[in-house]
Amino acid sequence: MGKTFRIAVIGGDGTGPEVVREAVKVLRRAALKFDFTLDLHDYDYGGERYLRTGEVLPENAVEEMRRHDAILLGAIGHPDVKPGILEKGILLRLRFELDQYINLRPVKLYPGVETPLKGKGPEDIDYVVVRENTGDLYTGTGGFSMKGTPHEVAIQTSVYTRHQVDRCLRYAFELARARGKKKTLALCGKTNVLTYVYDLWERAFHEMGEREFPDIKREYYHVDATCMWMVKNPEWFDVIVTGNMFGDIITDLGAITQGGMGIAAGGNINPNGVSMFEPIGGSAPKYTGKNFINPLAAICAGMMMLDHLGEKAAATAIERSVMHITAHKLKSLAAGRMGYSTSEVGDLVAEGI
Ligand code: IPM
Ligand code: MN
Repeated sequence: MGKTFRIAVIGGDGTGPEVVREAVKVLRRAALKFDFTLDLHDYDYGGERYLRTGEVLPENAVEEMRRHDAILLGAIGHPDVKPGILEKGILLRLRFELDQYINLRPVKLYPGVETPLKGKGPEDIDYVVVRENTGDLYTGTGGFSMKGTPHEVAIQTSVYTRHQVDRCLRYAFELARARGKKKTLALCGKTNVLTYVYDLWERAFHEMGEREFPDIKREYYHVDATCMWMVKNPEWFDVIVTGNMFGDIITDLGAITQGGMGIAAGGNINPNGVSMFEPIGGSAPKYTGKNFINPLAAICAGMMMLDHLGEKAAATAIERSVMHITAHKLKSLAAGRMGYSTSEVGDLVAEGI
């Protein structure tokens, strides 16, 4: 008898619930096949709930989430709610309070998927971005003074502690070692301008690398150059580690090179706590309820969750099934142009396990 996992499922806004439904379908099939049990609990956090109750997250929400082995999240963002309220109040709050200090974003081109990078194929695009997920410009440090006057000042500060940097670097080095591919870790920074924050990152990077990871090759790229090479020579990369803000930006670039928001998934990971897995794309309100959004990103988020929970064989089987349908079934990853509906894609992946 295999393990039982308690999973919190937050469908969220827009197409979130539809894509998560397909992810759950696939996860349930994997559980049957690989002999583990999923104990799923639904939560209605999101824009609809906020508009109905005036409360972004119920008071006990974070405690409630802590009682699970992992969280599967659809999408947060509602057209009738001012930008920032739900993102900060739900997504960022959970990331921070659950101390999910790694945002793990694989950039992997599956067979059959069209990339905008000319002449590049699956053998060229297969790396992982380790985005620090608790510091930087995201801490909300700053403020206004003289607001509303012609002399108004706005300040928003990038904040990093050595502790935050070290724990993120260690995760990235270990990942480069575990992948066992090029055994290369690239630090993406901006040491020529951000001479405090990325100076700290760079020193910590080389100190840790020299002392604890002599087997891992170290490279450094400025963030602007990173963007260029991610387009021109993605095959150079194995694992990239970077701060929260640069990580946010470069992972959207990475996502489009692997086929876009229909496929890109990520994990908000606390290696010693509760982690949360999500498709990177938004809530796509205009597609809501039409059964034609692509659920593969949510399915891949579910796959990452199983991998994280230690169900490696099940995760691999899901990935194989996804690759089979990208290679042989789907006409495109774009919503409405897949040649199948949202639920049919879920069925295909589930059947392929
Ligand atoms: C992401 C998103 C979030 C972020 C937003 C919605 C707050 O863009 O997960 O990349 O900036 O981290
Ligand atoms: Mn983003």
